[in-house]
Amino acid sequence: MINIDLSKGFVDISVSKNVNLKEEIVKLKKEKNAVILAHYYTEGEIQDIADFVGDSLALAQWAKKTSADIIVMCGVHFMGETAKILCPDRKVLVPDMNAGCSLADSCPADKFGDFVAQHPGYTVISYVNTTAAVKYYTDIVVTSSNARQIVESLDKDEKIIFGPDRNLGNYINSITGRDMLLWDGACDVHEKFSLEKILELKKQYSSAKVLAHPECKKVILTVADHIGSTASLLNFAVNSDSDTFIVATESGILHEMQKKCPNKTFIPAPPMDSTCACNECAFMRLNTLEKLYNTLKYELPEITVDSKISERAKLPIDRMLDISAKLGL
Ligand code: 13P
Ligand code: SF4
Repeated sequence: MINIDLSKGFVDISVSKNVNLKEEIVKLKKEKNAVILAHYYTEGEIQDIADFVGDSLALAQWAKKTSADIIVMCGVHFMGETAKILCPDRKVLVPDMNAGCSLADSCPADKFGDFVAQHPGYTVISYVNTTAAVKYYTDIVVTSSNARQIVESLDKDEKIIFGPDRNLGNYINSITGRDMLLWDGACDVHEKFSLEKILELKKQYSSAKVLAHPECKKVILTVADHIGSTASLLNFAVNSDSDTFIVATESGILHEMQKKCPNKTFIPAPPMDSTCACNECAFMRLNTLEKLYNTLKYELPEITVDSKISERAKLPIDRMLDISAKLGL
């Protein structure tokens, strides 16, 4: 048995150029009864080999219903954690443990726990982009697909803490008329889109529709024709009569948009700093075919969640899934 060094956060064994990674991944997957789930923000070649590609709500729903022995989550760490919490008896693997999330990082669990303790009587809603330790303090988890409906399902005068995304929280406050108390967190990718550059593009492509994820700043949402989760932006593009779209979310989604609508034009919204690739989530891009192959082959690295945290964190995730099922989401 070889001793696998995981000090880099992934199986760092280089794979011979003669290995056909795609074929081998498919073989290993079958051999081990594994399922590959991928988020829309991963590289196109990861999405193409996955058994299921979706937004964070759909990935959680899939993890819950799969009968596979191994779940490989090609996304970011909190998505793997959510799958593990929902399926504690399965092996949940991620190609690279370093795939974190700037938004989840903006909400340390100890500080969030203190904030919750300072506000007794509040219902605590956390966005799924949080660690299991933050979900431990949470009453209901939401994603961008169901946040509005879940908030609206609560009594009008219910006092609510919403964390960690201030942009999503402000947006939900604005469309529901609630006054939720917001945690001051944000996603580095979605904060960096440039309003000026989007307006320039709109001049150039006068019929283009602007699609924006609610993690974007309010100024960006103000010019959007449609605001929604990654799955919702995709559906809008598919069903719209327009043929050109400026897309203000992580640019990985363009892969599926272009696949579903080969005759439409999708333009990634530019970030303020044109020298960076800031509209790409560096964490999502850590998922590569080689790491995915090694993950399946060596069944590492594996997500683990402390059982006390996991049992408590499962309650708000289940609550989200139950409400979503009732609402047909
Ligand atoms: P979705 O819920 O739309 O998949 O978004 C997840 C995410 O990480 C957004 O940055
Ligand atoms: Fe997290 Fe932002 Fe990456 Fe989404 S795009 S996973 S919120 S860092």
